[in-house]
Amino acid sequence: SAMKTRVLTAFPNLPQNSFEIQLEAITNNLNFEYKTPTVIRIYNQFKKQNLFGDLKSEVEVAQKIAATECQDNVIQKVEAIEKGFLTIQLNNQFIEDEINSILTNGLKFPLEKKQKVVVDFSSPNIAKEMHVGHLRSTILGESLCRILEFQGQEVVRVNHIGDWGTQFGMLINHLLEEYPDYQTNKPALKELEDLYKEAKKKFDSNEEFKVKSQQFVVKLQALDPVCIDAWKMICELSRQEYNKIYQRLNVKITEYGESYYNPILPEIVKECEAKGIVELDQGAKIIRVKGEKVPLMIVKKDGGYNYDTTDMAAAKTRILDWKCDRLLYLTDVGQWNHFKLVFEGAKLMGWHQPPNTSMEHMGFGLVLGPDGKKFKTRSGDTVKLIDLLDEAKERALKQIQLRVQENQQGKEFSTGTALSPEEFETAAERMGIAAIKYYDLKQNRISDYNFDYDKMLDPKGNTAVYLMYSYVRMLSILRKSGIQDFEVFKADHKFKITHQHERHLAAQLLRFVDVLQSVTDQLAINWLCDYIYDICVKIAEAYNQYRILNDEHTQTRLLLCEAVKMVLLQCFYLVGIEPIEKI
Ligand code: ARG
Repeated sequence: SAMKTRVLTAFPNLPQNSFEIQLEAITNNLNFEYKTPTVIRIYNQFKKQNLFGDLKSEVEVAQKIAATECQDNVIQKVEAIEKGFLTIQLNNQFIEDEINSILTNGLKFPLEKKQKVVVDFSSPNIAKEMHVGHLRSTILGESLCRILEFQGQEVVRVNHIGDWGTQFGMLINHLLEEYPDYQTNKPALKELEDLYKEAKKKFDSNEEFKVKSQQFVVKLQALDPVCIDAWKMICELSRQEYNKIYQRLNVKITEYGESYYNPILPEIVKECEAKGIVELDQGAKIIRVKGEKVPLMIVKKDGGYNYDTTDMAAAKTRILDWKCDRLLYLTDVGQWNHFKLVFEGAKLMGWHQPPNTSMEHMGFGLVLGPDGKKFKTRSGDTVKLIDLLDEAKERALKQIQLRVQENQQGKEFSTGTALSPEEFETAAERMGIAAIKYYDLKQNRISDYNFDYDKMLDPKGNTAVYLMYSYVRMLSILRKSGIQDFEVFKADHKFKITHQHERHLAAQLLRFVDVLQSVTDQLAINWLCDYIYDICVKIAEAYNQYRILNDEHTQTRLLLCEAVKMVLLQCFYLVGIEPIEKI
């Protein structure tokens, strides 16, 4: 808005409400922090109305704005660059004040309007393998929830597990045949995975088994106690398995599986019929959506309900009963069409309350093997998620050992603190998990990516490892400063810019709020990753630019380090990195 005032000072005749200043961050220039293309827009919009006098181009208009004297405490200098773009240099005082405010008040997000947001993520299917696609949904979803919560939104974390449907007919049938005494003699977890495969095999090859399984579906839907009991056991076993993953990844999520909506499915169908949007199609009940070839199918030929029915019920529940303003669904892009249909269906029903309710599919690409092919083990089996986490941990351990060796040989400057064996263990776990998460989050989510340990754990790349080491190094400087109590130190001293690169680093810290805003507007967590990486790159540059300890400007630089630490810690939390304190 300081920029807008400047534009209006240069051209008082411009209608005030006809434009907003669009700002783009410049992160690789020591002199300027932002640039704006707005002049080009204004020029084209108003040149016919002769608002610019005898100025003949956007470049001349930009030059005039740059030359306009305007006293404010945010902008120091504006320069016209090529094509009518303006670059903006922030006021030192402004940067200092903002950093000092972070130091005293912590990081805050100025939320305009609190929303209630459902994040539907992870959502594996009972008795089927939880695969890398679910891993991706879990990682993205957890981070998204943390960011929204930090912003002050009310978040409902929903695990829409596949715990209902026809596959339970064959599962229950098979369970009762193979483990009639399952209540006292529970099948082990490993066998549960096989349960699905074996049941499926029998279902496909054995007509008698198939018919009986279909009867079990009907019985289950009629809530027959024996079936319900077996169903519960099967769900419980799966649950134990994916809870292990959630624990390792530090994920919090609440189960509202497909079965949760089961009781209301008949009413939902009736309601749709009453609205007059349901058609009969060869015995099935469908809803046609304009512009879409495939319709929503809310009742199958055999009278059963399916994935579409459940998602219609879920949408209604979330909008009308839970009163949510924003529904976010995280699955791979393959389900894009499904969600498009559900969103349109909900709109046809008038459940959404425009302009407030927003339904968005946060689709993501596939996770491929390091070779770019389908992700499989060497023997061709699907990869177990637990094994992935274990291997990452093991490799992280080697990585840390290497680092310690290098420290001892004096390649890296030594932090002078050694890890105990338990600390090694914890550090490896944290680094392994962080490496997987961060590598996933930093991708443009729509693209496929290759799951490649070497790239994930590269200490020199844009990886969690690099970020974590950078943090350790920062801590060790703060430790070496000898300052015992930073709270007292912060209260007694103020940050003051003494070097151009301090400005540069500080300005990067100040982008925090804008970055988070665009992350949740555009559902692009990778921008937050780029932001964190950029901070760490700038810290490394700073070490080459000036001394922090034993310098006349030590105090102010330590304050900047402390601010960096605060921002990094917060960002780490948002992307699910648990930092290491020393190595
Ligand atoms: N269980 C589904 C799958 O594994 C994902 C569910 C996503 N959420 C939803 N409301 N449909 O593909």
